[in-house]
Amino acid sequence: MSKISIIGAGNVGASCAEYIAMKNFAAEVVLLDIKENFAEGKALDLMQTASLNGFDSRISGSTSDYSKTANSNVIVVTSGIPRKPGMTREELIGINAGIVKTVVLSCLEHSPNAIFVIVSNPMDTMTQLTKQILGIPKHRIIGMGGALDSARFKHYLSSALSCPPSDVDAMVIGGHGDTTMIPLLRLASYKGVPVSQLLSKEVLDKVKADTMVGGATLTAMLGTSAWYAPGAAVSALVQSIVCDQKKMMTCCVYLDGEYGEFDICIGVPVILGKGGWERIVALSLKDDEKAEFQKSALAVRSMNAAL
Ligand code: LAC
Repeated sequence: MSKISIIGAGNVGASCAEYIAMKNFAAEVVLLDIKENFAEGKALDLMQTASLNGFDSRISGSTSDYSKTANSNVIVVTSGIPRKPGMTREELIGINAGIVKTVVLSCLEHSPNAIFVIVSNPMDTMTQLTKQILGIPKHRIIGMGGALDSARFKHYLSSALSCPPSDVDAMVIGGHGDTTMIPLLRLASYKGVPVSQLLSKEVLDKVKADTMVGGATLTAMLGTSAWYAPGAAVSALVQSIVCDQKKMMTCCVYLDGEYGEFDICIGVPVILGKGGWERIVALSLKDDEKAEFQKSALAVRSMNAAL
């Protein structure tokens, strides 16, 4: 059993706490927020669901007291301002870089061995920033974007196929941006059958386009960034780490030559276990997919230049 700290108790942070508690794999979940009493309130509300939902995780909240996060196994960083309708994730870079920097340094002070899961946007750039300033092994820094984008991809595929999402396997690699993510249609399958044999090119193109603007669609509908799927994506990847499940998920990790890229955090399939991301899975990409990946990396690099 483990201790998970979640920084930022807004919609996404609170959803992460809720889903982590519901799965009952963490002894302790700590929520932190700068807003007075906010994390305390969310934690208390969630704890009052424990007897109803049958979980034993202890959830507590604190207003910016980082000592409460001491000796966490995993730190989830959701701090920063979320997207408003019409905004790209990239537009958040200036404000969120300052916030994320302070947060990750404060957390590391109290949990020197923690694995960091970065959710704040623009997620690729915030993961790169964390890698640059913490100076900890690369395996302990994970951006969550691909896990979320892959779940959205599976949702749109299952709607097109009229099948349950759990019958679909698919992944999104590349950046976590509306124009940088790469839903890999060629590798998507319905119980092992390539979806290209089951759906027309027109439908597949629509699934890909819907996936790429998956977050923006919700931001326009909700007036702010989505939280259920982001929270569920974080909880699934944190569970694989804490329970050493060795699941393969797409996450934003530091590449050191893999996929032909150096010194960049971007989405690729990895194995998640107690060491964080334990290894990168090398896909044999076709030339057009390689070109898409290079283009995505270039766009992420140009965003990172604003750090
Ligand atoms: C989204 C945000 C969390 O894609 O990046 O909904």
